[in-house]
Amino acid sequence: MSRAADAARKRHEELVAEIRAHDYRYYVLDDPAISDREYDALYRELVELEKEYPELATPDSPTRRVGMSPRGALRTVRHVAPMMSLDNTYDETEVRDFARRVVAGLPAGARPRYCVEPKLDGASVEILYREGRLHEASTRGDGEHGEDVTENLRTIRSLPLTIDYRGPLTLRAEVVIFRRDLDRINAERVALGEPPFANPRNAAAGSLRMLDPRIVARRPLRAVVWQVVEGPEIAPSHSAALDRLAELGLPTHRKHVVCDDVDAVLEAVRALDADRKSYPYETDGAVIKVDDFSQQAILGATAKFPRWAIAYKFGAERATTRVVRIEVGVGRTGTLTPVAVLEPVRLAGTVVSRASLHNEQIVGQLDVRVGDRVTIEKAGEIIPQVVAVDVSARPAAAEPFRMPEHCPTCGTRVSRSDGEVAVWCPNPHCPDKVAGAIFHFSRRFAMDIDRLGEALIEQLVKKNLVRDVADLYELRAEQLVELERMGKKSAENVIESIAKSRERTLDRLLTGLGIEHVGPVASRQLAEAVHSLEELLAIPESEITERVSAIAGFGPKMVESVRAFLTDPESRKLLERLSKLGVSRPQPRHTVAASGPLAGMSFCVTGVLSRKREDVHASIRAAGGEVHDKVKSGTTFLVAGEKVGSTKLAAAKKAGTRVIDEATLERLIQGEPLPEATPQA
Ligand code: IVH
Repeated sequence: MSRAADAARKRHEELVAEIRAHDYRYYVLDDPAISDREYDALYRELVELEKEYPELATPDSPTRRVGMSPRGALRTVRHVAPMMSLDNTYDETEVRDFARRVVAGLPAGARPRYCVEPKLDGASVEILYREGRLHEASTRGDGEHGEDVTENLRTIRSLPLTIDYRGPLTLRAEVVIFRRDLDRINAERVALGEPPFANPRNAAAGSLRMLDPRIVARRPLRAVVWQVVEGPEIAPSHSAALDRLAELGLPTHRKHVVCDDVDAVLEAVRALDADRKSYPYETDGAVIKVDDFSQQAILGATAKFPRWAIAYKFGAERATTRVVRIEVGVGRTGTLTPVAVLEPVRLAGTVVSRASLHNEQIVGQLDVRVGDRVTIEKAGEIIPQVVAVDVSARPAAAEPFRMPEHCPTCGTRVSRSDGEVAVWCPNPHCPDKVAGAIFHFSRRFAMDIDRLGEALIEQLVKKNLVRDVADLYELRAEQLVELERMGKKSAENVIESIAKSRERTLDRLLTGLGIEHVGPVASRQLAEAVHSLEELLAIPESEITERVSAIAGFGPKMVESVRAFLTDPESRKLLERLSKLGVSRPQPRHTVAASGPLAGMSFCVTGVLSRKREDVHASIRAAGGEVHDKVKSGTTFLVAGEKVGSTKLAAAKKAGTRVIDEATLERLIQGEPLPEATPQA
């Protein structure tokens, strides 16, 4: 090995160790030691180093957390041991009964100790480490079999890809989303016209089972280990095992308390209930476990539950209040959403005055009426929900709620479709929809028109100055000056901030247009595939489906949504106007995904391959690689198909570019290490 390569390897080792340590502090201990910027600098250095020395980018490098490209479906795997559930109780006397049964089940004179710990409210998984590496992870499924979510779990940065323990270790953990992170992703979802997650559990469970690990990588998932099912020889008791796992760098909850008797257990449970609001994740109870593994083995299990553990459930926080009125809002997509306006009431630390009633069906099931006394609950302690109606206290005149037959904003007759609960305003010019669409268009992650606030948009729409997003670019400062609270200077600033947004790349424009099922990531992929707005418009109608389905990760729903958008005469007209107005810049062809197994590597593809060359390019980009049209100095790999021309091979030799075949490329995309180089002829 050359001296430079040797130094690179050393530096690589240092960086990997450093990044792992910071990941651990940040994601497991929740106690970062360096700023995000400093972290990014380390990470970038690692990416650069691996770019120069691709052989250093082994599958357990921190740059390789996002591996495979999307799958069609998740594989089913069998659990090492069945994932059982727990016997539940809400009652302290039942905890005493449990302790009596435990003592009765153990040899005479045994004085079992108990471990009390939080019951995390997330999605449970089984995680296998083999030979010190994260080997497989699966969802609970039916208890016997779950779905293989290994690639998704690999994206969770609190979970080490390697540990310093070689024996087989099978763990059970909860995948959770911290409360503070949920607020952030929900704000993003609402902005995209998607329904917010009702609670962190739904968000975690939904994210965990997604087919595209690249999207999972963007979700702030965390894993918290709560059990060892294989490898108990690491410690004699559950509490000691949790401590040992923490020493190995695994994320455990670190909230367990060992108790000598049932009184201490009940005290620990009460303390946990008082303390749990300060935990970053949701908990719905305490789990009480016999601590000693050999005593657990003696006690065994019934058909459903282990006899050595029980869950003590805490009730959700509730409050009662009165429904003042039921409002119906119209969103950007036109969906009518009923909202209960409440007499303000304190609940779990905040004052609640509105609760979403979601849709007509839910209002109907609850039979919520104006004037009703209702019980509200913070589902997952986030979004207040109406959970019960006190019918006995109902005013005599209260009428059942009916969804309006006409849009509350524009008066158009609403639409409904069979089999769907949604009711929506079909009028594309409905002021609420137009204002919602324009606001969405102007958001930071879309066209970023910072001077265009909600109040201004509302006025623009009301005064009929703007009917769609293209109209924004035809506004003149003189028109704005006439509006409320708008001086000459601020009018000019608004116009300037709109004009500046012409320079956004195509992906931002597509995001701003809010095509159903097409968020920022998909917009970027679509933009990269078509390059410019003009090229997008030039795709013949008959080829749209084929072109769009070729994009990695685009499922039938997304393809159909893009096709419907591009063939709709109204939206075509809008795109054509935007194009004439000079809105959006072409998407750079060579944008590199921030991470992925191919991060830092570049590829030139040549010859006849098993897939269309464009598709191969898309997979390379999706995995974080760069695509070069020609081999140049710095091109890492030439992917040679059949009938490859000798000029390309000669160019590769000259540039020092390694030649690989299609199968090797696929392996690299899967995150596998590069096979030993064979000398090139
Ligand atoms: S121990 C043999 N401990 O709650 C079952 N479970 O209702 C042992 N859960 O299946 C379960 N936090 O999905 C245990 N600290 C914890 C937990 C926990 C959450 C989940 C888990 C379990 C379910 C039981």
